[in-house]
Amino acid sequence: MSARHVVVVGGAGAIGSVVAAVLAEQGMRVTVADFADASAVVAALPGSGHAAVPLDVTDREGVLALLGPDASVGHYDALVYAAGTNYTGPVATTDWDAWDRVLTVNLKGAAYFGQAASLNLEANPRECSIVYFSSTAGLVGEGGASVYASSKFGLIGFMQCHASEIARFGARANAVCPGNIDSPMLRTLAAQVGERNGVSTEETLAQFAGATAFNRLIDIREVAQVVAFLASAASTGMSGQSVVIDGPPN
Ligand SMILES: NC(=O)c1ccc[n+]([C@@H]2O[C@H](COP(=O)([O-])OP(=O)(O)OC[C@H]3O[C@@H](n4cnc5c(N)ncnc54)[C@H](O)[C@@H]3O)[C@@H](O)[C@H]2O)c1
Repeated sequence: MSARHVVVVGGAGAIGSVVAAVLAEQGMRVTVADFADASAVVAALPGSGHAAVPLDVTDREGVLALLGPDASVGHYDALVYAAGTNYTGPVATTDWDAWDRVLTVNLKGAAYFGQAASLNLEANPRECSIVYFSSTAGLVGEGGASVYASSKFGLIGFMQCHASEIARFGARANAVCPGNIDSPMLRTLAAQVGERNGVSTEETLAQFAGATAFNRLIDIREVAQVVAFLASAASTGMSGQSVVIDGPPN
């Protein structure tokens, strides 16, 4: 039997690259699609048959060519949308260029990706699992996060609709909602939030870590293991769900 083939969009990033590694460790074949060079990520994966392909998720035709009915990646069994970008700032001073950038990558790109998958599944109905990266910021808003939260709340709504539509093909869609992940994206956010509040980056990170009773940040691998479960055929009873990867309330 051939290995399960998973395409990880945004797989050159901090979280996407670890998702790719965990999938490969579990015997899956991984194609990493990103607008950043993913060749080093792919070279480090255990097993064989992995590939890196260039993709800009804001290019609808490019997404369709990669994943649509005549997918250039060939047959796939699961898709992960881990592309994303962040912006923090109060509503009163929103940078509208940043709004466009964040909403285009985090939400519109995901919709291009979902549409390409729908057309592929319509042409070739099968068991297939789609995992979208939302965030705990896609479930609960907080001051300073209006732009990012709008994209991540929107992504959960999109995922739920998509899951309903592709069920008839035997396919599924779910979202993961990680909390504060020990990652460069979170460090950049901590620096920006800290500057706004007159607090150091390290102190802000400590506040993020203390937001749950775990009193620590979540490790990227802890996120990747949940994504691997959702991408696998072990989770065929789950669709339309938002899975939180975070500690309990303090
Ligand atoms: N880091 C966290 O604490 C955290 C928490 C919750 C959710 N998330 C979400 O997890 C996902 C991954 O985050 P990360 O920390 O790995 O961020 P990251 O910046 O390390 O990775 C994001 C990846 O997306 C790619 N990307 C951006 N724009 C693209 C485009 N137009 N076309 C193709 N690829 C593009 C980047 O090249 C990068 O490889 C994001 O959706 C993020 O919002 C992150």
